[in-house]
Amino acid sequence: MSVAAIILAAGKGTRMRSKRAKVLHELGGEPMIARAIRAVAALEPEPIVIVVGHQAREVEAAVGFSKARFALQEPQRGTGDAARCGLSQVPASFTGDVFIAYGDMPAITPVTLRAFLDAHRKRGAKLSFISIILDDPAAYGRVIRDGGGEVEKIVEFRDASPAERAIKEINTGFYLVDAAILRSALAELKPGNAQDEYYLTDIVAIARARNAKVEAWVAANPAQFAGINSREELANMETEIRAAVNRRLMQSGVTLVDPPTAYISEQAEIAPDCVIGPNVQIIGTCKLGEGVRIDGTAWLSNVTIGPRCHLKLGVRAEDCSIGEESEIGPFANLRAGTELAGHNRIGNFVETKKARLGRGTKASHLSYLGDATIGADTNIGCGVITVNYDGYDKHQTVIGDRCMVGCDTQMVAPVKVGNDVFVASGTTIVRDVSDGSLVLSHHPQREKAGWMATWRKRHGQR
Ligand code: UD1
Ligand code: CA
Repeated sequence: MSVAAIILAAGKGTRMRSKRAKVLHELGGEPMIARAIRAVAALEPEPIVIVVGHQAREVEAAVGFSKARFALQEPQRGTGDAARCGLSQVPASFTGDVFIAYGDMPAITPVTLRAFLDAHRKRGAKLSFISIILDDPAAYGRVIRDGGGEVEKIVEFRDASPAERAIKEINTGFYLVDAAILRSALAELKPGNAQDEYYLTDIVAIARARNAKVEAWVAANPAQFAGINSREELANMETEIRAAVNRRLMQSGVTLVDPPTAYISEQAEIAPDCVIGPNVQIIGTCKLGEGVRIDGTAWLSNVTIGPRCHLKLGVRAEDCSIGEESEIGPFANLRAGTELAGHNRIGNFVETKKARLGRGTKASHLSYLGDATIGADTNIGCGVITVNYDGYDKHQTVIGDRCMVGCDTQMVAPVKVGNDVFVASGTTIVRDVSDGSLVLSHHPQREKAGWMATWRKRHGQR
């Protein structure tokens, strides 16, 4: 039996009070629509149709799922109208079940959707939807059952009587409907309700009127069905997602010094015995090897960190790799394309960009190393700068193995310094330097005896 899927994502999300379409707002570092689609994709539906409307092009771009098809709903006249648009992209010859979900329900898991599909088939239902029981059913659609406990209809909060509003079983917004029934039921929808919209929920009563088997599958885990309608709900779900990641990491042997201030992406891979200090953001697909220590206040995005590295207070690193047993910071900025081979030391106020450092090489203080390749066991002194930019192009600096680069040196790129070179402090290197040399560009030192006393006198001091 085949499944087609329709995901409704055309609405603006008025309650977000945003110019951005609701489904584009981010959760756990990605647009919420991407999360919803990932869960639905686990049912292997064919096709997957996304109904877009508000900011259609941006939503299409954010979906990030190559197999998706899009249906444009313009104007947006309710969830029933949206489902009708989506169905227009499902081939007329399709005879299986159509799965319908809302794009603003990003907490749902594939396991739950599978169980829902299994229950729908086992019961031989023509229309199933997922309901939950809530102590505070808020403004959700209420599930109305008859005396025999059979589902009769769904009534939207705004159209519900006080007695109906007291009902605690609510509609979560996930449906499985036989394609033929869905086609004919959608054709019958009328907008005669409080919001003057076509309600998808009305298909329940229509199917019942035709004696089709209708089932509400009461799910046991209400948290998965939290919808996002406001910034507050978005922030709360972000907190929950983060807490779940943190729990999983701690169970796997990672120490989080202060879990509420550990902001770690779901994609991050963190080996046991890592210690993550307070205020650390680990974004995207970071990988941390065993025993990595992060003291605190770090921002890491797509960074690979080898075993037993130590990141001291205040490290920012992006799209780079840090080899084993390196010591970084405090206050270091490793920009994209930084590759540290291992056993490196990058100290305070050092910025690197597209810089490859061989094993054991150090830059301990106040340097800029950009577009540079540096060998192994080289020491970069305090205040060394690669002068890589001429206003038009970026140029390469190459430095060999076992060099001593003195403090306050400028390497005017393009330039190449060989192996075993000693660069005296204060040198401006403008030409290539051969292996084994001492290189210096010292200005002769001059001294005027007694000058200071004269200077002070001139300024009225003694
Ligand atoms: C809907 C249900 C309600 C249920 C709740 C669960 C209806 C009428 N009501 O209410 O029973 O309890 O979800 O969260 O279905 N959309 C479109 N086009 C439109 C309108 C909406 O694509 O014209 C999309 C929205 O982008 C959104 C989804 O449908 O992703 C749900 O719309 P929303 O307005 O949030 O419905 P609720 O009022 O939450
Ligand atoms: Ca909603």
